[in-house]
Amino acid sequence: MAIRLGDTAPDFTQESTHGPIKFYEYLGESWGVLFSHPADFTPVCTTELGMAASLKSEFEKRNVKMLALSVDSVDDHKKWIDDINETQTTTMNFPVLADADRRVSDLYDMIHPEADNTATVRSVFVIGPDRKVKLTLTYPASTGRNFEEILRVIDSLQLTAGYSVATPVNWKHGEDVVIAPALQDPDDLDRRFPKGYEVIKPYLRTTPQPNL
Ligand code: BEZ
Repeated sequence: MAIRLGDTAPDFTQESTHGPIKFYEYLGESWGVLFSHPADFTPVCTTELGMAASLKSEFEKRNVKMLALSVDSVDDHKKWIDDINETQTTTMNFPVLADADRRVSDLYDMIHPEADNTATVRSVFVIGPDRKVKLTLTYPASTGRNFEEILRVIDSLQLTAGYSVATPVNWKHGEDVVIAPALQDPDDLDRRFPKGYEVIKPYLRTTPQPNL
């Protein structure tokens, strides 16, 4: 069954390049990004895994653990990782699940038979420390993802989890945000947004990013 926003992310145990992974144990108190790629030894996936590894410190800064997956074996993953390290000038630094039995792919609905009957699509699940699914993305095999965008979304998710704000189009960390329309009491607004806010329309009010 498809996994929707707000669902509890299913737990699992599966083999990986770093040994068996118990998902909840692996996540601990952290946020998580679980993402699938269609297959080892393929060009787009090679660039994606290389970029994800290069950005690991950015994910760590945000308290996010990364976990990749495809329906290949640990042996294949390990041989392919040599290629990733060689060609993407990086060192793979997070585990890749070896989901040859499709346990996790099926659990997370990562195989879309009308797209490909055997390989996973490019799914992304961002999971909060409460184990709830905060974001899902699905890209086809032919389109590589933008891992800077995944970081940007995590910035938004983490900000909006703590403040009654939302992030507008193309927002990036440091830019003004919008105030949740439900907040209308002026005293409450002054208390919540001491840096002030601008009323453009009653439902469109901007304020400096509150956690800076
Ligand atoms: C790739 O990663 O390059 C790829 C994988 C499956 C189908 C098409 C492209």
